[in-house]
Amino acid sequence: MTYLGGQVVVVTGASSGIGEATARLFGRAGARVVLAARRLERLEALAAEIEALGGGAAAAPVAADVSRLADIQNLVEQALARFGRIDVLFNNAGFGRLDWFEKLDPVRDIEAQVAVNVLGVIQTTRQVLPVMMAQRSGHIINMASVAGLVGTPTYTVYAASKFAVRGFSEALRREAAPWGIGVSAVYPGGVATEFGAHAGIKRKRRVSTPAWMRLTADDVARAVVGLAERPRASLIITWPFRISAWLNQALPWLVDWSTIRGFTIPERIDELRAAGVRQS
Ligand SMILES: NC(=O)c1ccc[n+]([C@@H]2O[C@H](COP(=O)([O-])OP(=O)(O)OC[C@H]3O[C@@H](n4cnc5c(N)ncnc54)[C@H](OP(=O)(O)O)[C@@H]3O)[C@@H](O)[C@H]2O)c1
Repeated sequence: MTYLGGQVVVVTGASSGIGEATARLFGRAGARVVLAARRLERLEALAAEIEALGGGAAAAPVAADVSRLADIQNLVEQALARFGRIDVLFNNAGFGRLDWFEKLDPVRDIEAQVAVNVLGVIQTTRQVLPVMMAQRSGHIINMASVAGLVGTPTYTVYAASKFAVRGFSEALRREAAPWGIGVSAVYPGGVATEFGAHAGIKRKRRVSTPAWMRLTADDVARAVVGLAERPRASLIITWPFRISAWLNQALPWLVDWSTIRGFTIPERIDELRAAGVRQS
């Protein structure tokens, strides 16, 4: 057991993927974990698993839709009622709808992504921060993505949401530090979870992260628990994505050119031809 033993950790999006794996790992470290998501039955099953670990681990499942302020307020009330404090908040709930921008539904795809990925993170933090300020301690870990560092076609709104998480995290870190509160952002590349099933990706060619760069939910969970043990501002995983982020900053014209020539035009060539759009 590490010094996370006994700490109270709130994990949003704990019903599957990265959130589930991270909550389980916090439980193994002896933490008391508040599990939030919409699918309560999944949270209850995970809570029973964590409670059975012993070693001080405890879990409280709370049904919450992070796009609803009343649900977030209830989540924080439940966490305090059960455990009396909040040491770590992992703002992880999120999803992506990945398609050409003009094909995204204004409400189901655009508003919903912003509501969950951006407002969900901001409003949950807004409810938890005063608790941590009163404690004079706490750590907020926000789930961004490599899409929060590099914008790629079909990721427009998702990238916007994760760039927002990045800006929010950076600004809040500089506000909250004097209160003993750390703020971190995590930037994973592709992770094998249910994310892909919700994303609606329609591509002509198979463009995917090479197998050796693909992460599992457990890989990300280890990184997040590591961050809780040794806080730092940001973590990009895996390391090749650090090079992508650097390249995008240093040589944006090269990334524009190679992405447009290597991805956008080949993917949309039929549409471009049908519309009579000439490519020089
Ligand atoms: N998979 C990747 O390649 C990847 C890469 C970088 C970053 N990420 C980020 O990692 C986070 C977790 O995604 P994942 O890959 O683990 O996908 P996932 O398996 O689909 O998990 C998403 C989680 O978010 C929850 N969630 C979605 N909408 C919610 C809402 N309105 N209120 C509360 N909870 C909600 C889901 O629970 P319910 O449906 O039960 O509510 C689920 O627990 C996301 O923020 C995602 O953007 C993923």
